[in-house]
Amino acid sequence: MTTYSLQDKVVVVGAGAKNLGGLISRTFGADGARVVVHYNSDSTKPAADETVGAVKESGGDAFAVQGDLTKVAEIVRLFDEAINRFGRVDIAINTVGKVLKKPFVETTEVEYDEMFAINSKAAYFFIQEAGRRIPAGANGKIITIVTSLLAAFTGLYSTYAGAKAPVEHFTRAAAKEFGPRTISVNNIAPGPMDTPFFYPAETPEAITYHKSQSMTGELTKIEDIVPIVKFLATDGWWITGQTLFANGGYTTR
Ligand SMILES: NC(=O)c1ccc[n+]([C@@H]2O[C@H](COP(=O)([O-])OP(=O)(O)OC[C@H]3O[C@@H](n4cnc5c(N)ncnc54)[C@H](OP(=O)(O)O)[C@@H]3O)[C@@H](O)[C@H]2O)c1
Repeated sequence: MTTYSLQDKVVVVGAGAKNLGGLISRTFGADGARVVVHYNSDSTKPAADETVGAVKESGGDAFAVQGDLTKVAEIVRLFDEAINRFGRVDIAINTVGKVLKKPFVETTEVEYDEMFAINSKAAYFFIQEAGRRIPAGANGKIITIVTSLLAAFTGLYSTYAGAKAPVEHFTRAAAKEFGPRTISVNNIAPGPMDTPFFYPAETPEAITYHKSQSMTGELTKIEDIVPIVKFLATDGWWITGQTLFANGGYTTR
């Protein structure tokens, strides 16, 4: 049986410096990949530098690129830098996201536009640029992180779940269009995840509720998600056009 290795693969990780993206970068790096660690905010630069250092120490190679991926030119520059430095791109993983938990009637136009820019527009053009740059024959993979709220019947996340939802169709369309070049395109939808991303939007009561919905009474951990990312990027290559819900039983459909 053929097995698929990450050795020498060039991997672009959108928001790859910290939390889920940081662990993806480190895990792929430890498997011998060459990782382009993208980060956005100036305050994330130290985490990006640490992640680059960790990848190099574990036997992979890496460098960091800053960029606001709501701007298409910045996405193009990210992939340009990957190719200038490492010669090609094999795998592109986008973990960029922003949450807003707010009643429908209070959500502003500015908030709506920002949520769709980060969760939808950046995801669309990241997939587009990955589809342009990953060549046929590279066994390419494109993976986007969405949310388990896509399978929830709930209020208050209208712009967050609403802006992640179109990514499912972007992924289906891209999977069909890039399939002839053997590029798999998928989404992973984690449950509420134990990172600093989660807590500011939630009250203590809501955190208790979210925990209570998983089979262990715990939140999803980044360590629960990274093996699934790795599987899709290697032996799980036959899966394409799908959204995998990984949440310990929090939501299903
Ligand atoms: N934590 C959860 O409960 C949870 C649950 C399900 C799904 N998710 C999804 O999982 C992914 C990773 O989340 P996480 O928990 O690991 O938190 P995180 O590290 O805060 O991930 C979000 C990332 O998006 C980046 N970002 C925000 N605006 C950006 C922009 N304009 N351009 C480029 N990058 C931008 C942030 O970069 P800077 O901080 O440098 O600005 C940050 O690194 C997100 O897509 C999130 O929606 C999270």
